[in-house]
Amino acid sequence: MRILMVCLGNICRSPMADGLLRKKVQQLNLNVTVDSAGTSSLHQGDAPDKRMRETASELGTPIDALRSRPFVVLDFDRFDLIFAMDKSNRENILSLARNEEDKQKVLLILNEIEPGKDLEVPDPYYGGKQGFIDVYNMLDTATDRIIQRIKVNE
Ligand code: 4NP
Repeated sequence: MRILMVCLGNICRSPMADGLLRKKVQQLNLNVTVDSAGTSSLHQGDAPDKRMRETASELGTPIDALRSRPFVVLDFDRFDLIFAMDKSNRENILSLARNEEDKQKVLLILNEIEPGKDLEVPDPYYGGKQGFIDVYNMLDTATDRIIQRIKVNE
């Protein structure tokens, strides 16, 4: 199984989702590839946002080694599931889909917790510290659900 996490900048939400799922997959020794990307190339090559890195380390999931890269059409071939953090990310990814198979890979990550509700992981970029903690906790729960889904399908 190959899973891609996607947000806008690939410096806050999707690297956090990536780091959490990567850690859990490693701990459980599951055969899963995890990566993340941004729909914008604005932060290409950058480490995650300092505030996200600090929160990530404080809460036990360091993400310092990750680097931002843009989402590319080839990612539809490289990954089985593509989790968007919000509806705008989802629309941006879907606009690059070549066919129905590509489209069916694209999911909203919080639908793993509350199916069908189309809830969004809020962009913490312009907010305060609590926003980063909230993002961490939402993604911690969502990635637990993704792990359950993987185990059921193994
Ligand atoms: P992310 O957050 O999509 O969670 O990585 C953002 C990071 C940077 C910008 C927007 C959102 N930006 O506009 O630079």
